[in-house]
Amino acid sequence: MPALSNPLLQKWFNAFMRLSQRALSPLARHASDVQLPLRGKCRAGQVYLVGAGSGDVELLTLKAARLLMQADAVVYDRLVGDEVLALIPRGTERYYVGKARGHHSVPQAEIGALMVKLAGEGKSVVRLKGGDPAVFARMGEELDALANAQVPAAIVPGITAASAAAACMGIPLTDRGHAQQLRFVTAQLCREDGTPDWSSLARKDETLVFYMGLSKVSAICHGLRQAGLPDEWPIMLVANASQPEQQSLVGSLADMPEQLAANPLPSPCLIVVGSVVQRVATTPAATTTDVLSAQAMYR
Ligand SMILES: C[S@@+](CC[C@H](N)C(=O)[O-])C[C@H]1O[C@@H](n2cnc3c(N)ncnc32)[C@H](O)[C@@H]1O
Repeated sequence: MPALSNPLLQKWFNAFMRLSQRALSPLARHASDVQLPLRGKCRAGQVYLVGAGSGDVELLTLKAARLLMQADAVVYDRLVGDEVLALIPRGTERYYVGKARGHHSVPQAEIGALMVKLAGEGKSVVRLKGGDPAVFARMGEELDALANAQVPAAIVPGITAASAAAACMGIPLTDRGHAQQLRFVTAQLCREDGTPDWSSLARKDETLVFYMGLSKVSAICHGLRQAGLPDEWPIMLVANASQPEQQSLVGSLADMPEQLAANPLPSPCLIVVGSVVQRVATTPAATTTDVLSAQAMYR
């Protein structure tokens, strides 16, 4: 729109433009007429490390969807949603390398060898991982295995669980009045006996997001309180973020272990600590003690 020097004239002009757009909107193209820009190719002998997002199929990138539909073979993990897998055409080879119930995951070396073998057979390969392949997803080892075998690789990012959980709970991860830093932490090493360096994590100007921490909630709350964060410091747990079965708990470092014991959450679950979590309470349907369902918060 042109910028007019007279503010009143500008106001009338803007109003006119809005009205004419509304009047012409029935003639505009429908969403179903719009062609998605899915034009690229999936190259033979190449491996694409692709993020599947957090479970909601609509959070998949266009590029990821295109590659899934074009690839000769897809090697995928446990946290990839069923609706995402449903996009893979029938004739495509599929290899599940996630953890089966009560079993260990396929060893990383075997996953690397499988991708190298498939690419060596001249196939285009999608290595599909939950969330973003570069966030706690062992992408480094897989890139090394491909580089050692001189197999070309490309990376397609995905929506990581932190972004999905924050969106579903209606909070910004870095609200300027709350957090000037954002840290993604693996909870796998979190113990009450001093690891990790709790004092470096116990900051009031930061949002902490713990991945893989459902069994470490007590240790995290204890460690952060011991290192100086107040008992009432906000924390939330979000399980199955962005999926219909999403559940969450919102509380404080002091009460969260008890809340979780009373309302156990399933895996996968993300832990967010920081004053941004206070904003959940301003969203309708959320209270500090409720177990929230995705139907209320997300749909
Ligand atoms: C091995 S890490 C993979 C992270 C993934 N690459 C990402 O970017 O989201 C697995 C952890 O991610 C978190 N996670 C993944 N998907 C999730 C979801 N839909 N809801 C909540 N947490 C999730 C959980 O903390 C889980 O233990």
